[in-house]
Amino acid sequence: MPATSVIGLQWGDEAKGKVVDLLTEKHDIVIRYQGGNNAGHTVKFGGRTYKLSLLPTGILQSHVKSVIAPGVVVNPLALLKELDGLIAGGQDCSGRLMISDRAHVICPWHLLEEAAFEKLRGGEAIGTTMRGIGTCYREKAGRFHAIRIGDLVEREVFAAKVRSIVPVKQKLLDALDPEGPRLDADQIIAEYSAAADRIRPMVADTTSWLLDELEQGRRLLFEGAQGSLLDIDHGTFPYVTSSNSSGCGIHNGSGIPERAIQRMIGVAKAYTTRVGGGPFPTELLNETGEQIRKAGNEYGTVTGRPRRCGWLDTVATRYSARISGVDSIAIALLDVLSGHDELFICEAYEINGQRTRNMPSRASDFAAAKPVLRRIDGWKEDISGITRFEDLPKAAQMYVHAVSELVGRPVDLVSVGPDRSQTILIGAF
Ligand code: GDP
Ligand code: IMO
Ligand code: MG
Repeated sequence: MPATSVIGLQWGDEAKGKVVDLLTEKHDIVIRYQGGNNAGHTVKFGGRTYKLSLLPTGILQSHVKSVIAPGVVVNPLALLKELDGLIAGGQDCSGRLMISDRAHVICPWHLLEEAAFEKLRGGEAIGTTMRGIGTCYREKAGRFHAIRIGDLVEREVFAAKVRSIVPVKQKLLDALDPEGPRLDADQIIAEYSAAADRIRPMVADTTSWLLDELEQGRRLLFEGAQGSLLDIDHGTFPYVTSSNSSGCGIHNGSGIPERAIQRMIGVAKAYTTRVGGGPFPTELLNETGEQIRKAGNEYGTVTGRPRRCGWLDTVATRYSARISGVDSIAIALLDVLSGHDELFICEAYEINGQRTRNMPSRASDFAAAKPVLRRIDGWKEDISGITRFEDLPKAAQMYVHAVSELVGRPVDLVSVGPDRSQTILIGAF
């Protein structure tokens, strides 16, 4: 059963989109299985840059079917806006998209609730993307007021649900902020029903379809969103997203058995970035951090926020690789590290005087973790045009070897620029 998966090993934005795009050629179906339009995956080829948020990256290639599986939370208005953007750019791709009727719908009250709750958290705000992701997943777990895509596309069912939910949500919003916004059930029903009319032809039981396709030998590619350290169960809680964004989410988000996955690739930046709140042991709050942000253009794809930058943390990435069982790693943005005299990689933490290579489970321990850094020679050359590993400066080769050793996995791809062509493949990719 030839399925491949690509997941992020850090706090998101590892260049999963680029790696998925490179692999798409060898696959028939690309599947998003968790998260929603909090993701921002960038792909560059043919002189154009594409930014995908809710749509699977496979949507850009005409030979591929793209699937939004049950574990994704879908904002129908955002979905159509994204599709329309692609159509306007000459990509009429709606015919190759399937959306699970089991996926949950992000509604306007989810966005408003999230804004109100983040405000209440004050200095402890998670720094979410404000797309209603966490509030929609909470609704799903609570079940009572949840709406699925299958409900959305049945006009009467959807209208009845909205009419029963809105008064309750209005009370909640008023309690959170008496001066806050008002929900208009009629307007929501009209807007979402119009979206539903366009979405209906794409809606299907994607689980049965995917299982059939798998049995017929079709090659599936699972596209992870966010990163393993943002996983709701295994990440740096509470500064996480609300889905299983490590490899652990593939089975429950898609309905495809875990043993169908033959190959799991973990993507890591050559350094670390984080958007939003939460401890970050290797963060560089200095000139070097600023240099990396500038060289890597580290501003969020979704929200435009400057990303926090720091040295590569192999305690964290090794943990991610182990919990997800990745077979190999892809190291991205190596070119961004060019021009430094020396570089550092975190190989252990010191927590309250104790040295460890394990990821602490308690938030307070993680907040107290001091990085133990390994020094590595830097290199000055521009490496963004190099396509063979042996042509990299020796110091850059040593850096890649050190990452592989410390994460404990072989490296089968090194990315040296955003374009498809700026890629070094090691072995049979
Ligand atoms: P994703 O969310 O994991 O798909 O990653 P993002 O697209 O949010 O962020 C990665 C950013 O780095 C995007 O702007 C990519 O175009 C860019 N990128 C990808 N690979 C490389 C690389 O090897 N070098 C450089 N300089 N940029 C890259
Ligand atoms: P991709 O797929 C980076 C972060 C947010 C915030 C936390 C919770 O592009 O790698 P949420 O809106 O999900 O409730 O926010 O998670 N976050 C991401 N950071 N890349 C992403 O996606 C992210 N999706 C969510 O910044 O800290
Ligand atoms: Mg991103």
